[in-house]
Amino acid sequence: MIRECIVTTRGENGDAHVAPMGVHVRDNALIIAPFRPSTTLENLLREGNACINYTDDVRVFAGCLTGRRDWPVHAADHIQGLRLAESLAHAEVEIARIDEDELRPRFHCKVVFEATHAPFRGYNRAQAAVLELAILVSRLDRLRLDKIESEIEYLKIAIEKTAGPREHQAWDWLMAKVDAHAGSASS
Ligand SMILES: Cc1cc2nc3c(=O)[nH]c(=O)nc-3n(C[C@H](O)[C@H](O)[C@H](O)COP(=O)(O)O)c2cc1C
Repeated sequence: MIRECIVTTRGENGDAHVAPMGVHVRDNALIIAPFRPSTTLENLLREGNACINYTDDVRVFAGCLTGRRDWPVHAADHIQGLRLAESLAHAEVEIARIDEDELRPRFHCKVVFEATHAPFRGYNRAQAAVLELAILVSRLDRLRLDKIESEIEYLKIAIEKTAGPREHQAWDWLMAKVDAHAGSASS
């Protein structure tokens, strides 16, 4: 099972690095698997820890893919790290083991602290649609434009029927990137 989360790590200068990551869940163990090259990967290697943030604010996912990475953070409780200021919950993890891989190393994490900050208020289809579009945007260079466009036609239904202001904003940020890509592909 994979949970789409926001992983926050500390850079060499102490600044937060915020990145969407699919965190693999296996028998209660959490595994972060960044593709090379990646700032998250470098930070995990150097610092040996991270915060895994659970948020339903899909603007953070869309923002990170569209140059808006400056999300507010707080100091973590138990590790020398930083967590998203706004989240439903977060886990602070230390790296217990690394499965080395040329393409995608796997960082097995030990949870050392968890906290809940706000209640889960139910599923929203538009949030899922934004996540799917974010995945497409992260693969723009590898996917065919007609495939992207046909998926957007379907995902748009959930946006039109169920989105709130945050979901609309996240969708618009991502669509601007799709449109710029489509424009450069056709010129
Ligand atoms: C929902 C979602 C899940 C993602 N999961 C991963 C992942 O598991 N591994 C990865 O390397 N990138 C993943 N990405 C792409 C990264 O967020 C993006 O490439 C990011 O810039 C990571 O690289 P960085 O640490 O250098 O910033 C995901 C993106 C989205 C939108």
